[in-house]
Parts: sequence; C-alpha cells; structure tokens
Amino acid sequence: MIIYKRFLKAFLFLLLGACTTIDSQEVTDQEPAKIDPLTSHDDQINELISKMTLEEKVSMIHANSSFTSAGVERLGIPELTMSDGPHGVRPEHGRGWDLLNDGTDSSTYLPTGVTLAATWNPELGYAFGGVLGSEANKRGKDVILGPGINIMRTPLNGRNFEYQSEDPYLISKMAVGYIKGVQDQGVAACVKHFIANNQEIRRSSINVDMGERAFREIYLPGFKAAVEEAQVMTLMGAYNQFRGEFATHNTLLINDILKGEWGFEGMVISDWGAVHDTKQALQNGTDLEMGTDLSQMPNIDYSKFFLGDTVVQMVKSGDIAEALIDDKVKRILRVMYATHMFDKRQEGSINTDAHHKTAQKVAEEGIVLLKNYDQLLPLSKEVKKVAVIGGNADAKQSLGGGSSQVRPPYEITPLAGIKSLLGADVEISYVPGFEVIKPESANSEMIAEAVAAAKAADYVVYVGGWNHGYNYNEWGQGFYDMESVDKPSMKLPFFQDELISAVIEANPKTVVVLMGGGPVDMSQWIDNAPAIVQAWYPGMEGGKALANILYGEVNPSGKLPVTFPKQLEDSPAHALGEYPGDTANVFYNEGIFVGYRYNDTYKVEPQFAFGHGLSYTTFTFSDLKLTKEGEKVTGTFTLQNTGGMDGAEVAQIYVHDTESSLKRPVKELKAFEKVFLKKGESKEISFTLEADAFKYYDDTKNGWILEPGDFEIMIGNASDNITLSGTITFE
Ligand code: BGC
Repeated sequence: MIIYKRFLKAFLFLLLGACTTIDSQEVTDQEPAKIDPLTSHDDQINELISKMTLEEKVSMIHANSSFTSAGVERLGIPELTMSDGPHGVRPEHGRGWDLLNDGTDSSTYLPTGVTLAATWNPELGYAFGGVLGSEANKRGKDVILGPGINIMRTPLNGRNFEYQSEDPYLISKMAVGYIKGVQDQGVAACVKHFIANNQEIRRSSINVDMGERAFREIYLPGFKAAVEEAQVMTLMGAYNQFRGEFATHNTLLINDILKGEWGFEGMVISDWGAVHDTKQALQNGTDLEMGTDLSQMPNIDYSKFFLGDTVVQMVKSGDIAEALIDDKVKRILRVMYATHMFDKRQEGSINTDAHHKTAQKVAEEGIVLLKNYDQLLPLSKEVKKVAVIGGNADAKQSLGGGSSQVRPPYEITPLAGIKSLLGADVEISYVPGFEVIKPESANSEMIAEAVAAAKAADYVVYVGGWNHGYNYNEWGQGFYDMESVDKPSMKLPFFQDELISAVIEANPKTVVVLMGGGPVDMSQWIDNAPAIVQAWYPGMEGGKALANILYGEVNPSGKLPVTFPKQLEDSPAHALGEYPGDTANVFYNEGIFVGYRYNDTYKVEPQFAFGHGLSYTTFTFSDLKLTKEGEKVTGTFTLQNTGGMDGAEVAQIYVHDTESSLKRPVKELKAFEKVFLKKGESKEISFTLEADAFKYYDDTKNGWILEPGDFEIMIGNASDNITLSGTITFE
C-alpha cells in the first residue's frame, strides 16, 4: 500500500513535472543516484520559490501528518516522508496506522546504536547505514531519523541503547560511516538530538547548561563531524533547552554554530512537538516543525502548529520577513533535490539476506567479552545438558523502547540461537528465573526452579540484564531502556542479583550474558561469576550472533564504547555533576570529565574500562615509531596475533598532554583501527594525528590551543591497558 502510494506519488510528480520548471535529470537504471551537494540546485530552487504563494511556502514548513510534511502539487513538489529510526525503519505510524501488522511495515532490525559503536568498526557503520538507507527508500521514506549520537553522560539515560558512546571521537567516526551509508542510498540521514538531550527525565523542559570547554570538546564534535565530514542533510533539534532557549530554536546552537560556524546548508527538523514559539522558531533556525497526530486525535489541525497559519499572519503584518520563510523552504527543497525526489532515485530493497547478514555481523563484532576466568569460554558443544536461564533468553526486543521500535520478519532470541547451534543431541532446559513485572520481592519459586536446572546441567548460560520494560507488550511500554524515562538505578531489575548469585552457587560454570543499553551494578556477584558477556540489544540475528560468540564460531572483538562503573556513584555525572538537576535546570559540573576522562584523572577504578573487550586469542603491540612533521604526527607499530585463533583487535591510540595550563584528562582517544589477523600473523599499522588531536579548548581565550610541550602517545587495546607509548614534543 505504502509502496503503491509512493509509485502513485512519483507518477503524479512526473506528470506534473512536465508543466513546471523542475528539470528532471536523466538517470539510467544502472546508475546509482548519488547524493548531489545540497546547494547544486539552488538556481532551480530559487525559481520555484518565486512561483510559490506565501500559504504554499508555509504549508511546507510544518507537519501534515505524523511523519510527512506537505508538498505543493501545483508545482510538482512532493510531500516529504520521514521515518524513525536509528536501527531499522519503524512500523507505520500516524497516517497508515491502519496498516499495522499487515506485514508491509516490516524491516531489518539492526543491533542498536550502542552495539554498533561497540564494534569500533566504521566500515560496519557504513554497511549499517546502507541497510537502513536502502530499506527506508524501499518503504517510501525520504529521510531516516538517525543516527542518535547524544553523549552517554549517565548510565541511567533511558535512551543510551540508541546512542553510541561517551567519547566524541568514537562517535564521530561511527556516525560519519553511518550517515554516508544512508545517504549513498539516495535517502537523507537525520543526526539527532542537537544538543544535550542526555537524560529523558524532564526532557521536554529541562534547561541544560555546561561550561564552554565541555560544550566544545565533548558535546559538539559528533555533530560537527556529521555536518563537515559526512555532509549530513538533516539534523533534529532536541526537546530540552540549552542555556535558556529551546534547543530546537536556539540561536546559539543553530544560527551561530550549526549554520554559521559549520556552514550547514541542510534542514533543521524539530523533535516531535519540540517547537514552543513561532517567532523563535522562525528566527532561530528551525526549518520544519514536526509533531504527532495520534489516531486517537482525529481532529488535529496541523495549520495550528507554531509554524502554521500564525506564520502567514506574521509575514502579512510585516512582523516577520518573508525571506526567512524562503530560506526554510529552500533548505527543504535542497534535501528533496539531493535525495532525488524530482528524478529517479536508485532502487531500495528490504529484508534481503544481505541486510540480515549485516545485522548479524554487527552483532558479532559488537558483543563484548567482559570477563573470561580460566577460559570458561568458548563453551564446548560436546556436552549432554545445558541450562539456559533468564527472561531475556527467550524475549524479543525489537518492538520496545519507544520511537526506535522495529518490526522485523523474525527475531532470533538467545535461546533460539543456542538451540539451533547445539542441535537436537544436546538437552537444553530453559527456565526464565524472573518475571518481567514489577515484583515486590525475589520470586523464590522461580529461583528454586532455576537452581535445580543449573545443578542438573553441565554448564549454565544466564541471559538477563535490562529490557525495554515491564508491562511489556507489543508496544514496549516500560521503564528501563526506554524513551521518555530514565532507569531508576544501576541495579539489575526483577531481583536478578539474587537469582544470578543463586545460579552461580548451584553451578559455578555459569556464563552471565547481559543485555541492555549500558552498565549494571555487578557488585553482588561479579567475583563469583567466571564469565560475563555484554550483548546490548543485538538485533534480529542477535541470538545467532551470541551463540556464535559463546561457542567460539566467532572470536569476540567488541570493545566497550562506554565506561562500566562499579556503582552509580562512580559515574562523573553523579559524582561531580548534577543529575537530573532540579525541576528546571541541570548543570554539567563534571565538565569535560565524562566517562574514562573522569576515571583516569580522578583515579576511580571502573568495573570495566572504556575500550575493554577480551578475545579468545592474544595480541601484542610492538615497535612504536613516531615522526613529527610540522604539527602532524605519524606513527607505526606492529600488531601480532600471538594466540591460537584468528581474530580482530582494536588498536586504540590515546594522547596524553604531559603538562598544560588548563587541567586536561589523563588521556583522550584520538585514533583507532580494528585489525583482523590470522593466528600468528602480524601487521604494521600506521596512523596519523593531525594538530587537532593535541589541542584543547581554552574557554578564557575562546579558541583551540596547541600548547608547546611533551605529548605522550599511548597505544593499547583498552583505555586501561596501554602497552606502547612514546613522546613527541611541540616547540
Ligand atoms: C524522539 C525522536 C523521534 C521522534 C519521531 C521523538 O519522541 O525523541 O528521536 O525521531 O519522536 O518519532
């Protein structure tokens, strides 16, 4: 139906195009419709705008359904169609709500953002974006609302699972790959949420503030890279306020930095319902106001949106210059041209084997082996009886979490993945151990059942962690990894601490697999747990990928993109900063000391450090050579797989400024490379650090400073496992 509508739309536009000024470019079937620079059709766009009435222009700058904004039929301008989200094309919502469950709104459920970032593999970022772009295209979407790249400031943020990291450099590299992947499919990406939407509590009103150093060094770089390196076509303003103005219409963020300093030529979309004031939205850079028409609100009148009829009156009364509206329409039309809405976009495809394989590969590279005492893993397949325990082993996650929900054609759960890998000869017992409801106390009957299963088995695979909530239903209503609410604490829900402790006691050969968007407090059982695996939300092929890791079909190579503190109090937003602030404001007192920058500098030992992730083989780093030419440093070193299995290692390159006028973190990630090596193989790795890698933002001088002195280049396979270092000096 949707696809049919899309063809009808395209047909109408082609027909109408003949009597308008729109030039249809000749594109052959074979030629992929690559993205043009955003401004390359500005002459045609200006001419088109000169033919539009004020009312037509205004109709284009606000929603006309949940995920569309109006075109101008008379001039052959189509509607713009958007869809969530960051890890799969969302089921139809709003107009087309009636299509639910008829099978036409299914798509590949990719592992979530944090899983992707844990691969530390930008090439997979590109492949991931490619799947999303191609499927969005096939489903008739012009803009896909992702990636979400807000900094993981606190482990409690309900949307961490959608985001990527605590580190701006890692985010930048992964997001650039993702955006290029989407946009090379002829569809626009939408980087979100600009900026400082780092908590869901009071997200629609909270006023966030932070020092200029934190703003420039930590919170802006991912968005800057999206604009300058990936040429992202659209950006979504956040719900919250920033320094006293709503982020979606914030003159500093949008006019001064995004469109000013960074020269962004694309379109700023509001978050859904994030516009609060017509004049501010008009003047402070919002180009398109979006919001939701829930089907239970049949009388919603989009002309009453802030960027609706009021705008017409304001322009007519001379209160607002029409040129401001023209600029917004121009930016929308640029995205339409660049995504080939006026000519022939390349074909998309959906739910192909190749797409599902990409989902599996991202999961296999993103799952992180946290602990492996006495090499319990990989598990042997030559056993009689395995107990799989824990509610997440048998749970599907795709439809949960809020706007990022996806409806895949199937989802392989951990239990299904293990069963299919072990085959019928191994007896597998499954007991959930906990219920996904809000219990008052641990369920002793369920724990006893789990203990009995554990005792009777050769070993146990426990699969628990977070999920998208209790009262779990198809729509994922709940309170854990979930939009619009934060987690109540870092403590495992559903009394899992008691359950895990009892299971390990019953059978010490227990592998604990945790799902979820981030760390949990493991203090009650970590010393007794021999093996721990972080599986995040690994997507529709996740169970297969997990089984491949557990049984050594695939050597784990994921690395933590976020620090796992031992307890919430060890997380800088909670130790130094404010969270969640008061009812109106939150100030990020911890400043630049986010994640490992805090642990290193304040000497707080994490449970598992940023960049940590084990392998079934071993790697050594040697022979570091550094050369400095002007302000550029190049280096080489040798990485060797010294163990007994092929595998991948992530070489992480950190910079330490040995002395500086302003306090700096002990080390900061400035380069990394994921390297696949056969057993015994070694490879020379080279890297380049441009001048920016050594600079800090001086908020007393309002600029980036490269201070003379010694800089240590630190290389290792985790932020707490540096095995090579060398020093270079800037005079
Ligand atoms: C979310 C966005 C999402 C939008 C549309 C909002 O609630 O914050 O990330 O893209 O809804 O579903």
